[in-house]
Amino acid sequence: MKGLLNKLYNENHLTREELIYLLDNLGEKDKEKLHELAYNTTIKTYGNKIYIRGLLEFTNYCKNNCKYCGLRRDNKKVERYRLSEEEIFSALEEGDRLGYKTFVLQGGEDPYYTDEILVKIVQDIRDRYKDVAITLSIGERSKESYEKLYMAGADRFLLRHETATAEMYERLHPGMSQQNRIECLYNLKKIGYQVGAGFIVGLPGENKETLADNLLFLKRLEPAMIGIGPFISHPDTPLGQCKNGSVETTLIMISLTRLLLPKALIPATTALNTLSSEGLEKGILAGANVVMLNLSPPEARKKYEIYKNKEITDIHQLKKIEERAKKVNFYVDMGRGDYIDFNGGIKYV
Ligand code: 5AD
Ligand code: SF4
Repeated sequence: MKGLLNKLYNENHLTREELIYLLDNLGEKDKEKLHELAYNTTIKTYGNKIYIRGLLEFTNYCKNNCKYCGLRRDNKKVERYRLSEEEIFSALEEGDRLGYKTFVLQGGEDPYYTDEILVKIVQDIRDRYKDVAITLSIGERSKESYEKLYMAGADRFLLRHETATAEMYERLHPGMSQQNRIECLYNLKKIGYQVGAGFIVGLPGENKETLADNLLFLKRLEPAMIGIGPFISHPDTPLGQCKNGSVETTLIMISLTRLLLPKALIPATTALNTLSSEGLEKGILAGANVVMLNLSPPEARKKYEIYKNKEITDIHQLKKIEERAKKVNFYVDMGRGDYIDFNGGIKYV
């Protein structure tokens, strides 16, 4: 085991067999060592800084029906909303005033947002805030659509691969295809976005092979950002009776990801913070270096219920984040926090 951990730390690679062996045989002491190596690797690559993002959930309409998600189209209990452009800008204005340099616009896959509407929103944000990073998290679209949004001023795109196992992907995403999702991710990369992928830990049917395949998928794709969070069951979904994912496994996945991809920006996710009161601290100690704080208007926040009891940290709670990070020797960085290999924003399509 010691040999494997050292190999991972020095070479940033393990084979599928080695990963599965590691997952099967990781003792308590090995886990500590794994987290320590991951934490040191973050510091070596980015320093002991935690990057802050402002998250705006601008629509909770969704045409998809992902079996785990509270916003799925068949959940009729959700009160749906779309923020007006004024509401979007008043939220961003507050973020800007507080010094935020990354805005993440997240939404369900909402057909209301044509390219024309979205391009205008992105352009307006770009016109108003010249030096912020604009991140979109709006699901699968055509390559042309991604290109238009990139040229309008978007810099980054979050699209988790959710699970690398084809059978599991198709089972949990009715009407969607894993092939298309992967194509979207590669299109986004090709266009020049800093791309975020990632997966859910503890989905029903998951095993060690699934976890290893998720890690190897990420290693191949080499995204700039990687979001990993535990599954949290939502009662108004088909998976309402399934048990939640494990915090411990999530932390192990964060550490392995950090060691396989030392340059990745890895958030301590909201889901991790929801299942663990010390999610941020534990996440950092396992290799995370990003946190997303919520910018959405309070009425919208309650309605953006991907899972129950979502632990929302508000953009005004930066002081608290600072104190918590300090406990694990990390410091808040309000900069854009770009990927280390970022090309400086030169756009070519
Ligand atoms: N538990 C954990 N994560 C979830 N997501 C959606 N529903 C759940 C859930 N019940 C994640 C998906 C999606 C991201 C925005 O939230 O991975 O990509
Ligand atoms: Fe829609 Fe995203 Fe929820 Fe799937 S996970 S139902 S795409 S909001």
